[in-house]
Amino acid sequence: MNLPIACQQVLLKNRRHRGKFQYTVPSPVSYPYQWFWDSCFHAVILNHFSSSSAKREIFSLIAKQFDNGMIPHMIYWNHPNKTKFPLIKWGKNGTSTLTQPPMIAYSVWEIFQKDKDLQFVKSVYPGLYHFYRYLLTERDPHEKHLIGIMNPDESGEDNSPRFDKPLGLPPKQTLEENTKRRFELVKQNISCNFDAPFCMRNFFWVKDVPFNCIMVTNLKLLSELAKKVGHPHDAVYFAEKAENISGAMRKLMFEDGIFWSTYGKNYQKIKVKTWAIFAPLFANILSPQEAKTLVESHLLNKKEFRTPYPVPTTSLDEPSFNPDGFWRGPIWIGTNWFIYKGLQNYGFKDIAREIKESSLTLIQKSGFREHFNPLTGEGQGAENFTWGGLVLDMV
Ligand code: GLC
Repeated sequence: MNLPIACQQVLLKNRRHRGKFQYTVPSPVSYPYQWFWDSCFHAVILNHFSSSSAKREIFSLIAKQFDNGMIPHMIYWNHPNKTKFPLIKWGKNGTSTLTQPPMIAYSVWEIFQKDKDLQFVKSVYPGLYHFYRYLLTERDPHEKHLIGIMNPDESGEDNSPRFDKPLGLPPKQTLEENTKRRFELVKQNISCNFDAPFCMRNFFWVKDVPFNCIMVTNLKLLSELAKKVGHPHDAVYFAEKAENISGAMRKLMFEDGIFWSTYGKNYQKIKVKTWAIFAPLFANILSPQEAKTLVESHLLNKKEFRTPYPVPTTSLDEPSFNPDGFWRGPIWIGTNWFIYKGLQNYGFKDIAREIKESSLTLIQKSGFREHFNPLTGEGQGAENFTWGGLVLDMV
């Protein structure tokens, strides 16, 4: 398989147009709409072939930004009123009323690195500014400097066992049970009109580690972007916010060398080992010694994350581990990409290379699938799924 060509073909096959907008669907049959963090990934992948397509992915996301700054996690485009899944009746016609991990500044930064098109940055900067301001205010109503999510789907890891406790579910469960519970939560979100502080306080008060790590990295890049477009005060503001979040994460999430997601008003730690424990590598918030211990004790541990095909989304020794369980075990190339970038940050080049090679092997063996069994490498879920293209960015 010629990988760059194969990746490009999947992205091209999944490309859609609506009026002047262009976007990419994650999978033509299973996911026929635009998703927020998927499009941020698409921009990163497309940037390897064509910065102008990467930019269009960003423009189509910003086109549907809400007045309050939120960028919705799904845009239905060609299917404005018709939705394929019951769960996506999220309060509005045309888009969902949730968001997803805030990767957009990262993608814009990558695009800017490639062609130094300041005009492009200028044109998207106001949208970015309002989106991150929304997260910093509406999603941190108590000013604890941790950004909250109001629904597991906002983490991008819909049924991850990190959310079992906040949802009142046991570690062993079926996807149907999980979906039913998330559906109830959507109804509650609708009942509080997606007013984030209210919804979080009453129904789902979770501060998730990857979401906050992604926020830290993105705020640092947004600060750089602000400098480029001549907003030095914004640059200082966003850099300070990144520091505040890192500090709060250490204060409220860190214990025994691991950052844990929290729930409830007392910030109770959710001690379930998922790939999320490696997300702090991506945000650069561990000391080199902490990073080394984390990698050696967990990533390279055969009882936890060192499966025949790394990296499972849930540790083998968790009661919730299920190699066929969507976000409860299978490998996703997106999470491998975050771990790869994190390992690079700390100079773990050999382990990073192993993860890249294993990701390539999975695609060569099983194709562009949504996720993969970490024990057998078998492909699972959606087909012609775009995230496989992220292997091209494991550089
Ligand atoms: C699934 C994933 C989510 C992704 C979406 C579209 O819901 O859990 O992360 O954005 O599919 O690919």
